[in-house]
Amino acid sequence: MAERLRERGYEVVEADSGEQALDLLEQFAFDIVITDLRLPGIDGGRVIEAAVERYPGIVAIVITGYGTVKDAVDAIKRGASDFVAKPFQFDELMHVLEKALEQRRLASENAYLRSQLEERYQFGGILGRSRPMQDLFNLLDMVARSSSTILVTGETGTGKEVVARAIHHNSPRRVHRFVALNCSAIPETLLEAELFGHVRGAFTGAVGTRQGRLEQAHKGTLFLDEVGTMSATLQVKLLRALQEREFERVGDNQTIKVDVRVIAATNSDLARLVAAGSFREDLYYRLNVIPIQLPPLRERRDDIPLLVQHFLAKFAPGSAVHASQTAMRALMAYDWPGNVRQLENAMERAVALGAGRPEIDVADLPPEVRVVPDASAPPYVEFPEDGLDLPRYLATIERDLIHRALDRTRGNRNRAADLLHIKRTTLVEKLKRLVGADR
Ligand SMILES: Nc1ncnc2c1ncn2[C@@H]1O[C@H](COP(=O)(O)OP(=O)(O)OP(=O)(O)O)[C@@H](O)[C@H]1O
Ligand SMILES: [Mg+2]
Repeated sequence: MAERLRERGYEVVEADSGEQALDLLEQFAFDIVITDLRLPGIDGGRVIEAAVERYPGIVAIVITGYGTVKDAVDAIKRGASDFVAKPFQFDELMHVLEKALEQRRLASENAYLRSQLEERYQFGGILGRSRPMQDLFNLLDMVARSSSTILVTGETGTGKEVVARAIHHNSPRRVHRFVALNCSAIPETLLEAELFGHVRGAFTGAVGTRQGRLEQAHKGTLFLDEVGTMSATLQVKLLRALQEREFERVGDNQTIKVDVRVIAATNSDLARLVAAGSFREDLYYRLNVIPIQLPPLRERRDDIPLLVQHFLAKFAPGSAVHASQTAMRALMAYDWPGNVRQLENAMERAVALGAGRPEIDVADLPPEVRVVPDASAPPYVEFPEDGLDLPRYLATIERDLIHRALDRTRGNRNRAADLLHIKRTTLVEKLKRLVGADR
């Protein structure tokens, strides 16, 4: 068998036993394993398992004895690609082998294409194909590697929290914790204890000693959400913690040192709060080492189709629900004051109202989104990855509209020309050209 495989151009290494096969698998990255099932020591099933575990894409062919279909099925469960039963002709083996190789090639091509698409249009769960988002992904890729403090700003629902999480999960700190603290959700008096922790008896109700979020985030990332709402006293304490990377628990005087990366977020204009005197300038500069500004969705409408598709798939998993042409036009035209979160909610609602229909229509959208731009506004065109032939594309639209105008007027060219706001002679010209193109 080895001889004949070599004749066909395969590079073959032989093993006398399962043990030796495992040894060889440790040393080289093979593309294919062919093994008998019944071997004296370690059996063929174990060899397959080891091979597949080490090289998940490997093609593993099992040779089974006559009448041992159960063994073959067993081997396939353990990861074999296919089997041949003894006795067999060499051509049978080749057939099975080539089929398995072809399948693997297709699978890896698909996986490659998928990963290309996914990588290009997302960063750690943040989707975006628009220019500003592509620039953002490059920036995130760079800053994730550092430990610098980051200030994420953007309107509500633009994805400030997803960005903070994506930075953490792409940073060397990912093995440690991502701890989030929403500064506006907690009463001022408790916020300090929440951030720095407290000892027993530090204040009424402090029954035990507790670690603060800063401590919990040691070696990891602390996400300070809505940082603009913090009181003046707490701002001072936070500033010190950021500068010295040390602090004390409330009610304690023992200093605790931490190694924490801080990502702060706000949807208010911190620079303006500084100018108005309600946010400390020094703290602002401490936080704003690397500013990341998330553009509102209406300034990156190219992301809308991608997000729509993503959310429809999320809320109607396993079914190919999509937005109709008109619905997509409405979605593209709307201003989305609540940004991606509002779009996400709209898609959840649409899937519920759609009740299993494959197409989401305008009626399934929230009332405020339902305004379809007037008919003379350009249609929504999905722009293909490799571009499109503009003159040909425009010609297809022209032809379609001319045919429809003629249909409506039952072939009356005068009235069709009127409907299209062109002269009759122009219509006749165009028809001649269209007929020419049809041939
Ligand atoms: N680019 C994106 N790709 C995929 N999902 C996104 C994207 N941006 C936001 N989302 C989703 O939209 C929702 C809102 O995002 P997030 O909570 O990060 O917004 P935010 O900026 O923190 O808003 P707020 O200021 O109201 O707290 C989340 O469910 C998030 O998963
Ligand atoms: Mg948020």
